[in-house]
Amino acid sequence: MSAAPAVPHHIAIVMDGNGRWATRRFLPRVAGHKQGVESLRRCVKACAARGVSVLTVFAFSSENWNRPVEEVSGLMDLMVVALGREVPKLIQDGVRLHFVGERSGLSEKIAAGLMQAEAATAHNSRLVLNVCFNYGGRWDIARAAAQLAARGEELTEANLDRAMALSHVPDPDLFIRTGGEQRLSNFLLWQSAYAELFFSDRLWPEFDEAALDEAIAVFQNRERRFGQTSAQVRAARPDQQAA
Ligand code: IPE
Ligand code: IPE
Ligand code: MG
Repeated sequence: MSAAPAVPHHIAIVMDGNGRWATRRFLPRVAGHKQGVESLRRCVKACAARGVSVLTVFAFSSENWNRPVEEVSGLMDLMVVALGREVPKLIQDGVRLHFVGERSGLSEKIAAGLMQAEAATAHNSRLVLNVCFNYGGRWDIARAAAQLAARGEELTEANLDRAMALSHVPDPDLFIRTGGEQRLSNFLLWQSAYAELFFSDRLWPEFDEAALDEAIAVFQNRERRFGQTSAQVRAARPDQQAA
């Protein structure tokens, strides 16, 4: 009997489409972001229930500062509200929170909120939730390189890897983007070198358990070769040999 296909250990998601979700309902864009928080809560629970160990989501990019001021301030306010409301639930669900991104550009209130949320969930181990906030893949790589230079360390792949913002988790296995666009938008450029990509037309507020299951099923049917040939990969997997 062949083993059940493995669930991705680490899923990364570009949660895109909140604005369009709201606009289609004649609501302000921030209403879409609020609904996006609901969708994230559902997704976190679903990932934990399916045995996913790490979920990394893109909540605010380095480039999102270029949006209209009222949307940016709406997103910042939503972060404060969401922290207050969601952290107790995350603790109940055994979720450990990490915030990834440049903190110096954030208000003191938000920076303090992020630190408190990380401290309050630090003992949880069911699922690691990395929320990328004021994050950009290029920022991450440049910052890691600058750190190595400042310490006089050699610029090797291994040293850079250790200096990157997601060094506490393995690389993502499955990279999902909702909202119909097929681009990376500066998310996890270094870490996604071998992630399987899955693009969903669903807007993020509508990305439900069934959509997650579809993404996982597609992932399970991919052959990850990491540069090898298909024959090599199959030879290394005893459960696949008889197939
Ligand atoms: C993603 O949804 C959330 C953030 C960028 C904060 P968008 O706000 O980009 O939604 P669309 O792409 O405009 O629909
Ligand atoms: C990427 O979505 C950022 C987040 C989901 C937080 P965007 O909507 O900002 O990406 P672009 O601008 O369409 O590439
Ligand atoms: Mg968008």
